[in-house]
Amino acid sequence: MRVLLVTGKGGVGKTTVAAATALKAAELGYRTLVMSTDPAHSLADAYDLPLGDQPQEVTKNLQAQQIDSQHRLEQDWGDVREYLTDLFDWSGLRGIEAEELSVFPGMDELFALSDIKDHAASGKHDLLVVDCAPTAETLRLLSLPEILGWYMDKIFPVERKLVRAMRPVLSRVVSMPIAGEEVFDAAEGFYGRIQGVRDILTNPFVTSARLVLTPEKMVINEARRTYTYLGLFGYAVDAVIVNRVLPEEITDPYFKRWHEVQAEHLQSIEEGFADVAIRQLRLFDEEMVGVPKLRLLADELYGDIDPVDRMSESEPFQVHEDGSDVVLAIAVPFAERGEVDVMRHGEELIITVGGYRRAFILPDSLRRRQVRRAQLEEGSLRVTFGQSA
Ligand SMILES: Nc1ncnc2c1ncn2[C@@H]1O[C@H](COP(=O)(O)OP(=O)(O)OP(=O)(O)O)[C@@H](O)[C@H]1O
Ligand SMILES: [Mg+2]
Repeated sequence: MRVLLVTGKGGVGKTTVAAATALKAAELGYRTLVMSTDPAHSLADAYDLPLGDQPQEVTKNLQAQQIDSQHRLEQDWGDVREYLTDLFDWSGLRGIEAEELSVFPGMDELFALSDIKDHAASGKHDLLVVDCAPTAETLRLLSLPEILGWYMDKIFPVERKLVRAMRPVLSRVVSMPIAGEEVFDAAEGFYGRIQGVRDILTNPFVTSARLVLTPEKMVINEARRTYTYLGLFGYAVDAVIVNRVLPEEITDPYFKRWHEVQAEHLQSIEEGFADVAIRQLRLFDEEMVGVPKLRLLADELYGDIDPVDRMSESEPFQVHEDGSDVVLAIAVPFAERGEVDVMRHGEELIITVGGYRRAFILPDSLRRRQVRRAQLEEGSLRVTFGQSA
């Protein structure tokens, strides 16, 4: 099975691209399910069909589902939520605040994503296309298991035993709510589900993320940041889809400046996303809603390419610790010594190889540090960041 995550800033065309990609795959014969995890669903609008929480047929080989994430959250997290609400309530927070605090932002989408695990296990689909919420916030949340893992292995079982032994005594002595078995069960269940989803999503042979953007400065900047973070957390981006590009044939002088601006932005997209496939999609002369229009859009987007295949296989960068230093290793396969230049410019690292320039947005953890050295080793540029001065 393959999973395609379609993400990008608000309004750039994520749902349209997800719907069109799924349609194209289904028409090529893949048993496809497209699901939206964004609580503000618009998949039904894209297909111009009513859709619900359960998969529904759109065309042959294609099913679509708009997940009711709130419902999933209540189902899986209800017990923990109730306990936390009681606890916060007891500590003096008023009802509504306590309730708000018992769920962290993005958590409902996390539960929606956990459906991926069930779909993968069912064996009913060759492809899952996920129309994600506007930012990669949820994908960042998915990295929680790594942090939680240690806690779940080491502390959680001890705590659980301890509470089990102390519960009768404690509840007599203090009025503080004590977590019951069902709370521990729910926490464990949640952890297990998320762990499973993460295993699927970080396997580059299974999952590819496709970033949708438009040739506009702010959109590009956010997409580059998302790209860095996705890489940092182990999600493989295989393509960038530049949407709403003005077609050449528009010669109206009103759009002259727009053509120039878009050309500049397309250039910066080439530099910022040099490792992945870049596809363009023109601004159509109408809204692209309904199966026939989505089919047309998908044909222009993918041409003869199979949308299910990985569109690029790059592993753009890796970060690892080396004593107190942090090393950023970036693939520069054809670079030769002497033609590589590394320059730090604010939050960007600008790498020049011969006549080719690549600008890379640094993650927060590296931004605070200083570049100590850069070395070229077997097609990989290793940039060492020392402690900040
Ligand atoms: N290339 C295009 N040409 C013309 N219309 C487009 C194009 N791409 C998207 N649209 C239209 O723009 C609107 C917004 O697109 P879409 O809903 O796919 O964006 P989104 O990124 O999913 O938004 P949100 O962040 O709200 O989920 C839709 O009406 C869609 O039909
Ligand atoms: Mg959308």
